[in-house]
Amino acid sequence: MVIKKLTLENFRNYESETFDFTEGLNLLTGKNAQGKTNCAEAVFYLCTGSSLRIRHDRQLIRRGSPFARAAAELVSRYGKVTLEARIFENKRELFVNGNKVARAVDFLGNMNSVFFSPGELRLVQDGPDERRRFLNLSISQTSREYCTALLRYQKILDQRNNLLKNRDVGMVMETLSVWDEQLAAYAARLILKRRAFLKKLGPLASAAHAYLTDGKEELTVGADGREESEEEARERLIGELNAALERDIRLGFTSVGPHRDDVRILIDGQDARGFASQGQARTAALALKLAEVEIFKELAGEPPILILDDVMSELDLPRRKKLVDRIAGVQCILTCTHAERVLYGAESHKIKIQGGKIVP
Ligand SMILES: Nc1ncnc2c1ncn2[C@@H]1O[C@H](COP(=O)(O)OP(=O)(O)O)[C@@H](O)[C@H]1O
Ligand SMILES: [Mg+2]
Repeated sequence: MVIKKLTLENFRNYESETFDFTEGLNLLTGKNAQGKTNCAEAVFYLCTGSSLRIRHDRQLIRRGSPFARAAAELVSRYGKVTLEARIFENKRELFVNGNKVARAVDFLGNMNSVFFSPGELRLVQDGPDERRRFLNLSISQTSREYCTALLRYQKILDQRNNLLKNRDVGMVMETLSVWDEQLAAYAARLILKRRAFLKKLGPLASAAHAYLTDGKEELTVGADGREESEEEARERLIGELNAALERDIRLGFTSVGPHRDDVRILIDGQDARGFASQGQARTAALALKLAEVEIFKELAGEPPILILDDVMSELDLPRRKKLVDRIAGVQCILTCTHAERVLYGAESHKIKIQGGKIVP
């Protein structure tokens, strides 16, 4: 999968700009705050329908403009694809090959991408939220079924949480079991899909990590909890929802389910969260991302677009070289402030950015 062209209009600090990318390494350079990450963000947004940086799409609209537009021309193994997002104050419209799509799930997965920035350290160091977000985005990119189940799950969860806040406990008790049946059914599907994904990801991440550390450290990634069938997971959840009911009514939200699950990440057998140094966390996060690239290759039958935002300067030289070697054959959009320091003479297409404009 290759992105050929990206057009931005009133997107972040871009008024109107078109990027032409090549198949290999594309190097976006420029001083700080010029628009490098904004460009990378636009590519990721077109892949996933979401940005890793923001809560509200309207933040993507250039200040003072009524709406933003981002569009990409791609070539996948099925042929040409165009993707477009029009973002307004209170809504957005998504188009695939010029046709408006009604649901985000029809937009997602037309173009796969893997995003790595210094912020991804949170994957290893922070609480479970970041890891769930990683799983949800990554699995959704290749599984429409997962994406649909996730959206339904979240919807029912919201409704259940609203109900829990209701003071009429009798009414809560009466209605809840209906929600719980549905919630547990979607939850079980999510849990099984995540487990299957982690089963693939785990060994790939270990291998990538061994490669990056010359086998000096061992990374283990896997799902929490024990193996179970979808039916078993569903029944277990019904049990857990019932057991937590009193507490949930008190708290006013649902305290058990896949929206609370975590991913296990161990370095040399120890929980990486809270224990890993900055350097270790960075290497582990990079290994996870390289594993994600491999998974997309396998599931989609072609490599994803790899976006490396500002990460080169944080890696030591041997790792940087290893990374460049490892991603040969994958289209990469790479941002950095100093081009000279980055690539060891590896061929790259350089684009310089200044104040939201490409410098000719
Ligand atoms: N919605 C927006 N409208 C106008 N400018 C924006 C918007 N969002 C971000 N910017 C500007 O974009 C710049 C940051 O761009 P960014 O791509 O993060 O920089 P870098 O080149 O360092 O990666 C800042 O100057 C910021 O003010
Ligand atoms: Mg940046």
